[in-house]
Amino acid sequence: MKTLWIIANWKSNKTISEALDWLNIVGPKLQNSENLSADRQDIKVIVCPPFSDLAELKKEIQVNNYSIFLGSQDISPFGIGAYTGEEPAEILKDLVSYSIIGHSERRENFAETDEMVADKFNKAKETGAEGVVCVQGAETPIPEGCNIIAYEPIFAIGTGTPDTPENAQKVAEQIKSEKPDVNVLYGGSVTDQNCNAFISQKDINGLLIGKASLDAEEFLKIVESCGTV
Ligand code: PGA
Repeated sequence: MKTLWIIANWKSNKTISEALDWLNIVGPKLQNSENLSADRQDIKVIVCPPFSDLAELKKEIQVNNYSIFLGSQDISPFGIGAYTGEEPAEILKDLVSYSIIGHSERRENFAETDEMVADKFNKAKETGAEGVVCVQGAETPIPEGCNIIAYEPIFAIGTGTPDTPENAQKVAEQIKSEKPDVNVLYGGSVTDQNCNAFISQKDINGLLIGKASLDAEEFLKIVESCGTV
């Protein structure tokens, strides 16, 4: 069965209690609603909160047996040791199964280079977390062994102006012409209104959602709407 990836990137938003409120609205709906998984597709919902929310969310997901996975929004390119402020894969592995790597906001605000992205990807891999590598187009280098790539054109991120589904499809197709087995997600101003147009494209395997993932009801609308495509 083909997996449809729906990833919420909360960026620097939500206190622990706000995060738990969101989880306890979204979690029960994913658990109880059978129509969320269409026959053709297995929907995998991943939430990437700030680091400080992860431990409480993890406990709540386990206690309630919610069908939600956790991811980090970044990961250290170093291991355990004297790297003040960094979150190493060896510690994150107890909390997350996925890590967003190389988001354009990190490339721009924290001067992340393609080399750093590759180092982070390799670190995540060593401890078993799956890296979701963000690219701006088919020309962005993709680390060897990467299975999930998010095409996120900068003009579309947080602007309310998404790429066209047709262009996103073209980019996804280009990426897959070099790496046929990867999953390509689209991200950038995804809403409940436009999500279906993206995931209906042949080579798009899911969505990376920022702003529209912050409101639990809005996020659920996206998941429900994707489940029916
Ligand atoms: P957006 O963000 O949905 O708010 O445009 C997407 C992202 O940056 O991952």
